[in-house]
Amino acid sequence: MTIDRLTLRKFLLQEEEKHGLGHELMMLIEDIGTSCRIIAHQIRNGPFLDILGTAETENVQGETQKQLDVIANDIFLSHLSNCSRVAALVSEEIDNVIWLKDTPKKGDYLVYFDPLDGSSNLNVNMSVGSIFSVVELDEDITDLSNDVVLIKGSKQICAGYALYGPSTSLILSTGNGVNGFTQKIGSGEFLLTFPDMRLPEETAEFAINASRFSHWEPPIRRYVEECLEGPKGPRGKSFNMRWIASMVAEVHRILMRGGVFLYPKDANNASMGGKLRLLYEANPMGFIIEQAGGKASTGRSRILDEQPAGHHQRISVILGSKAEVELIDSYHLEA
Ligand code: AHG
Ligand code: MN
Ligand code: MN
Ligand code: MN
Repeated sequence: MTIDRLTLRKFLLQEEEKHGLGHELMMLIEDIGTSCRIIAHQIRNGPFLDILGTAETENVQGETQKQLDVIANDIFLSHLSNCSRVAALVSEEIDNVIWLKDTPKKGDYLVYFDPLDGSSNLNVNMSVGSIFSVVELDEDITDLSNDVVLIKGSKQICAGYALYGPSTSLILSTGNGVNGFTQKIGSGEFLLTFPDMRLPEETAEFAINASRFSHWEPPIRRYVEECLEGPKGPRGKSFNMRWIASMVAEVHRILMRGGVFLYPKDANNASMGGKLRLLYEANPMGFIIEQAGGKASTGRSRILDEQPAGHHQRISVILGSKAEVELIDSYHLEA
């Protein structure tokens, strides 16, 4: 039995009708979808193309780039510059903001992206992804400086990610809930498979890199220890734990079945403010999680309300099922 499913194009046209989604934004989302399709193809052919290893270069984060970090970044750059409304691009893999317009106008787009997330998983054939976010300029710009892109996540008009797992998913929000698409083998189209994704308020599953235990701040330690105590502990139930080391994969699991993801600031990364980057990791994922009914916090404040101080700024990230994030916030407040 075949079920007729909406294509990404038809879905976006419906969003245009229902919510007044701009035509240019629609085309930009399609260009992002095309980039993700091509990246998926490169990843899946990675062993034949011999592109799963490291490149000779280091990015601005001080990380040795993988060849596919560079390839995915180039794919995004070439496709996102198609859209006449895109004024600037901010990527994990590029030191400075890339300006595509000399005189950006109010209403033009800033696009932020992590071209390949979880890239340490590439050479072991585990899930990786791409993350993106779009913000509209609220005034004409005369000075093309990096500081122009330092806009709070609450201003995002669209965010999402692609997950290159057993199938390729494209998860998207334009501020009217979250919808999930799957790339169909054969036609290559993204078809709506997970309409109106909502995450449960309660959960019994958490995700954290426990090898950093000795660096954690007391509220994080308290939270994890209480989860591990099981039914006899203060939480009164057993918790499950998962860690894939790919934020996209963790967030996707949480969207599908609930959970909480923590990559907190700790004693070992405090000088950088955390590990994950605010503009192209925390903000888009925070937007998606909130749009699905969850919560995204630094432990002390809402991620989307953070005023960015730099375009590669890092931040503490705690997101997922609302009740659990609220509990972790309360532990920070008490500490
Ligand atoms: P990226 O591959 O884009 O640099 O991001 C990696 C991030 C994120 O995906 C994941 O949650 C985290 O790093 C994993 O960190 P650990 O290796 O410390 O587990
Ligand atoms: Mn990286
Ligand atoms: Mn990443
Ligand atoms: Mn990355």
